[in-house]
Amino acid sequence: MITPHVVRAKLPKDFIWGFATAAFQIEGSTDIDGRGKSIWDDFSRQPGKTLDGGNGDVATNSYKLWKEDIALLKSYGVKSYRFSIAWSRIIPLGGRNDPINPKGIEYYSNFIDELLRNGIMPFVTLYHWDLPQNLHERYGGWLNKEEIVADYVHYAKVCFREFGGRVKHWLTMNEPWCVAVLGYGRGVFAPGRSSDRLRSPEGDSSTEPWIVGHSVILAHAYAVKAYREEFKPTQRGQIGITLNGDWAIPYDNSPANVEAAQHALDVAIGWFADPVYLGHYPEFMQEMLGDRLPVFTTEELAVVKGSSDFYGMNTYTTNLCKAGGDDEFQGRVEYTFTRPDGTQLGTQAHCKWLQTYPQGFRALLNYLYKRYRLPIYVTENGFAVKDENSKTIEQAVQDFDRVEYFRGMTAAVVAAIVEDGVDIQAYFPWSLLDNFEWADGYDTRFGVTYVDYPTQKRYPKESAKFLSKFFKDNIVSD
Ligand code: NOJ
Repeated sequence: MITPHVVRAKLPKDFIWGFATAAFQIEGSTDIDGRGKSIWDDFSRQPGKTLDGGNGDVATNSYKLWKEDIALLKSYGVKSYRFSIAWSRIIPLGGRNDPINPKGIEYYSNFIDELLRNGIMPFVTLYHWDLPQNLHERYGGWLNKEEIVADYVHYAKVCFREFGGRVKHWLTMNEPWCVAVLGYGRGVFAPGRSSDRLRSPEGDSSTEPWIVGHSVILAHAYAVKAYREEFKPTQRGQIGITLNGDWAIPYDNSPANVEAAQHALDVAIGWFADPVYLGHYPEFMQEMLGDRLPVFTTEELAVVKGSSDFYGMNTYTTNLCKAGGDDEFQGRVEYTFTRPDGTQLGTQAHCKWLQTYPQGFRALLNYLYKRYRLPIYVTENGFAVKDENSKTIEQAVQDFDRVEYFRGMTAAVVAAIVEDGVDIQAYFPWSLLDNFEWADGYDTRFGVTYVDYPTQKRYPKESAKFLSKFFKDNIVSD
């Protein structure tokens, strides 16, 4: 349990906190300054792909309002800002022999300078789902291991070279499980491939997601190798991957459900974390998938194992797990929030996959630290208030369910550090702004700042005030 005295304990002086966003979700201006298309451009414009028909053409207009966004961050007192670079702004056609776009470099360069001028440390994601469309068309994108690894590493090296003098924290990939499963298994994210013939006649969800996951791991690992060999000696930054993963608890004490919770973790987290930190795929996945799970060569494995300087963690909720069903992407486990006695785990969010459960967050922090033994950076954690989009601005900024969520989660972070001895070094709530929530369009709002889309005006919510004050009061000062 999280006890009140723990909340009064302080976070270390160098604890990093800030807000997180991603390029496609906020930038808009998709046709400006030589940007090439990403797989999300056309996908989100197709009828029926997003809940409300929303796309990324304008989003929060942050490509243009970048100075305003940085001023907002400053007003919140953050130490850092996690944002992503759009690959197709840097290399519009994406490939290693394609031209680099000076305007793209200049944009992010100015952005980074402005952050630094304001005392905000850039925390940069290289890939947050917006694959250059051309690479998908040219050779199948993530399905083509050799090509995509070489192109991704080239892109990463351009970023290290251009920005690495000023950027000291790199995240190679954001949430590979979502890239593989939602993009190539369930077909609900770009590029929308799935064996469901209604969605995509060409996809094969029994093999493609595992192939994609494998390519993503290798692209990450070879980019890290390049960074460590060619850039780290002079730039001295840290680099790692960030994985999604929610805590899993057995629905009840039956052995089958206890085992199911571990299987859920094996696929949600172990699929990527085990190779990167331990050097192999989880045994359960090998059993479940047989020869559908790609195999690393000895040389690849040597590059993959140990390829992250820290554990990058995106987490939102906890699932109660029941053995059964045929969903391989969940380890053939069914998720629920309803306990055997009929009660709910926590407060329901707008999206059906999310309820508040801080105890689960604390347990997950302990599990990851014990299993992978590296400092943890919480790179995302957040809550979408139910029906916030139907509220007036005045009502929406009173986001007390989100405040409660963050009150619990920040207390869990402190408790995990102070009581459990977990080494947690950063916490980035998702998100700075309401933004384009992928297949859920603009209907779901995760921001601590309300965005009034017709005017693009920003309004801080109560949760932004809560978090600013929490970190001001709880990080030891000099
Ligand atoms: C995960 C993703 O990284 C981010 O893009 C998304 O908006 C949030 N979680 C909320 O679903």
